[in-house]
Amino acid sequence: MTVNPTKDQDKETVDKKSGSHDKNKTMLERDREFVNPVLSRAAPIVAERGEGAYLIDVNGDRYLDFTTGIAVNNIGHCHPKVVQAIKAQAEKLIHTSVCAHHVNYIELCERLVEITPPSLNSVFLANSGAECVEGALKLARYVTGRPGIITFRGGFHGRTHMCMALTTSKLAYRDMYEPLMPSIYTTAFPYVYRSHFPNDPQKVVDDVFEQLDMLFAQIINPKQVASFLIEPILGEGGYVVPPSGFFKRLRKVADEHGIMLIADEVQTGFGRTGKMFAIEHEGVEPDIMTMAKGIAAGMPLSAFISRRELTSKWEAGRHGTTFGGNPVSCAAALASIKVIQEEKLVERSAKLGGEMIERIKKMSAGKKHVGDVRGRGMMIGIEFNDEHGKPSKEWADKVSRVCFENKLLVLTCGYKGQVIRLIPPLNLSEAEMEQGLAILERAISQK
Ligand SMILES: Cc1ncc(COP(=O)(O)O)c(C=O)c1O
Repeated sequence: MTVNPTKDQDKETVDKKSGSHDKNKTMLERDREFVNPVLSRAAPIVAERGEGAYLIDVNGDRYLDFTTGIAVNNIGHCHPKVVQAIKAQAEKLIHTSVCAHHVNYIELCERLVEITPPSLNSVFLANSGAECVEGALKLARYVTGRPGIITFRGGFHGRTHMCMALTTSKLAYRDMYEPLMPSIYTTAFPYVYRSHFPNDPQKVVDDVFEQLDMLFAQIINPKQVASFLIEPILGEGGYVVPPSGFFKRLRKVADEHGIMLIADEVQTGFGRTGKMFAIEHEGVEPDIMTMAKGIAAGMPLSAFISRRELTSKWEAGRHGTTFGGNPVSCAAALASIKVIQEEKLVERSAKLGGEMIERIKKMSAGKKHVGDVRGRGMMIGIEFNDEHGKPSKEWADKVSRVCFENKLLVLTCGYKGQVIRLIPPLNLSEAEMEQGLAILERAISQK
């Protein structure tokens, strides 16, 4: 028997219910029948298992996973140390809510204080990205006594009613849901590649601050603004890295007007960009930072962290949660952070990610449909163009399709779906990196 590395050899693939040999197909039919169709899935496969960098479907087909469940499985699928921590905790204590304190909550908050920028030292745990963003904004409004929130065009912050108003990465997240929450204002993000000055990043930054000045002069008094809410690197908005110096200027404006700077690190955190948190690349400290996705290796958990000096003004009971900071999710987070530190995955993300970006730039040279290759660490975006240099969803889809046919999972992003994002696990092996890059090259090189 020849060994096929993309197939589980001894996998039983007959569906018991239908008798079909394509279990994946029959499961997808059941999915279509029972699952609310609003939930779209990127790949038409039904996952059964995860092993490191691989997702394995019900037919036993193995897919190299450069999506990591949208930047969640930063240490790969089912890392044995996390699995063990979850099992051990589930046998001891699963839930307390706010009816009692619990050990893992306290230990995780201590650990988050250790690994986040030095001034941040007071943590609240929640369940999802949207929830921690909302909590952070409630804190900012409460302590400043101001209503206004300024977001940056292209940002994604979640799908709840408040988060829809904060999100401007794509129309689909807002359209048909109006009226949206008031007192939220959007200004420009320095998206150099799609700006009027693609070869002059500093001019783009100047222009962004001019627009912010106009916003303050025409629409909202800065003294009425509680916070700037911003992703250190746009995620859903297209994996856009701001030019250096932008965040320092934003910090200065925030300080001038007493505005809280909130860094939304939900997608960029936990080593993804080659630093533990992406804001560390910028040499500034936010007043509040949100985090989720990569925090607990796939268990539902999120957090926002601020300074005690601010949180001590927030009266007890003014914010809360039933499930947030669940003992099992906290155990997974503690184990996962330990793995990231012990296996030096932040450094690995910087090294391997940097190499991947260079290799993708090289393989894209001379290919007109590849407009831009960018990123930090293992947060990598490839932006596609049509023959007129306009954003091309068609090319991004075409490349994704060939990747999928060759068993490499990737996701798209960007305001027109014109960007492919690569978000592999940070502990990707060199061989897996080569396998992924070879497939990507084939996909990019098609005519
Ligand atoms: C930067 C950012 N903030 C917030 C969210 C919302 O997270 P969730 O889907 O867990 O609510 C996301 C999700 O993609 C995100 O990327």
